[in-house]
Amino acid sequence: MSKLLEVSDLSVAFGQTHAVRGVSFSLEQGQTLAIVGESGSGKSLSSLAILGLLPPQARVVSGSIRWDGRELLSLGDDELRKLRGEELAIIFQDPLSALNPSLTVGYQIAEMFRRRRGARREEARRRAIEAMTEVGIPDAARRAENYPHEFSGGMRQRVMIAMALALEPRLLIADEPTTALDVTVQAQILRLLRKRQEAGLSMIIISHDLGVVARTAQRVVVMYAGKAVESGTVAELYSNPSHPYTKGLLAASPSARDTGRQIQPIDGYPPDITAMPSGCAFHPRCPFARERCRTDEPELRIVAPGRTSACHFAEEVLTHGEAVGNTRA
Ligand SMILES: Nc1ncnc2c1ncn2[C@@H]1O[C@H](COP(=O)(O)OP(=O)(O)O)[C@@H](O)[C@H]1O
Ligand code: SF4
Ligand SMILES: [Mg+2]
Repeated sequence: MSKLLEVSDLSVAFGQTHAVRGVSFSLEQGQTLAIVGESGSGKSLSSLAILGLLPPQARVVSGSIRWDGRELLSLGDDELRKLRGEELAIIFQDPLSALNPSLTVGYQIAEMFRRRRGARREEARRRAIEAMTEVGIPDAARRAENYPHEFSGGMRQRVMIAMALALEPRLLIADEPTTALDVTVQAQILRLLRKRQEAGLSMIIISHDLGVVARTAQRVVVMYAGKAVESGTVAELYSNPSHPYTKGLLAASPSARDTGRQIQPIDGYPPDITAMPSGCAFHPRCPFARERCRTDEPELRIVAPGRTSACHFAEEVLTHGEAVGNTRA
């Protein structure tokens, strides 16, 4: 299969501070890629760079982002804006920030059909109601007249999904789409996204919750302190992680594995990106760390077919993960 999206060696900085450091990943048509990692690891900046929506203080300092064969980093604002409407869409964790509070939800969705598809007023309204119905908003014709604050968190996220999917994009980036929602609503939203995947939509799902990822993605990239530290298929990476950080995330996730084991949070916190540790950025928190980890920064390398890891001792983690990891308990 040909790559739909290919991000290579992407770095994003705020002044001299590098928040994303040489990240690469790719996505095939119709597939879902997950980007996971604790807060501050550079997940959102990586995806905002794809859409050309980085905060004004941030800039891409190196790398390449190829979409369907085109280099996105060399496109002008107008071309990017057009692409964002037609081919690329994003939903955020906080839908309120993306909706206009003073316009009804129906109006905001209808506007997209009017501006982008040249639909007349009545047709745009009909299509907005259709789009709302499709994402499971009951009584959509009436709800279209409501303002964003009149919706519950889950219904608001449905509105965002309806807006993102209205123009039938080829790629949906979902940045922590269920983080603010309770478990039942989260499951409903994930079902909704899965239905779209089955219909062929390509997706990047960003989450700190490995359980969410397990239920939606085929491949996963694990990020830590601005770098990709492991990648592989969800099945392989979950059953046999090759990086201690991934191992830690799995042990800390209540829903990733139904092993009945106790949840074991990772000690400590991710580093401040303005004061990165020497050597391996994970070494202050790593139960596998040795002397070499304090001085040598590990390269991301292939450790098995289709799998990469940025750990000096990846092979050991892969084969003896349980035994060594247990010494922490
Ligand atoms: N507007 C900003 N100004 C300065 N630093 C920022 C800004 N946005 C993000 N950062 C920094 O960049 C890093 C990565 O951010 P982000 O991509 O949002 O992380 P994630 O989505 O993984 O939680 C964080 O450490 C954060 O402090
Ligand atoms: S390189 Fe060392 S500190 Fe980094 S993850 Fe591997 S064992 Fe841990
Ligand atoms: Mg984020």
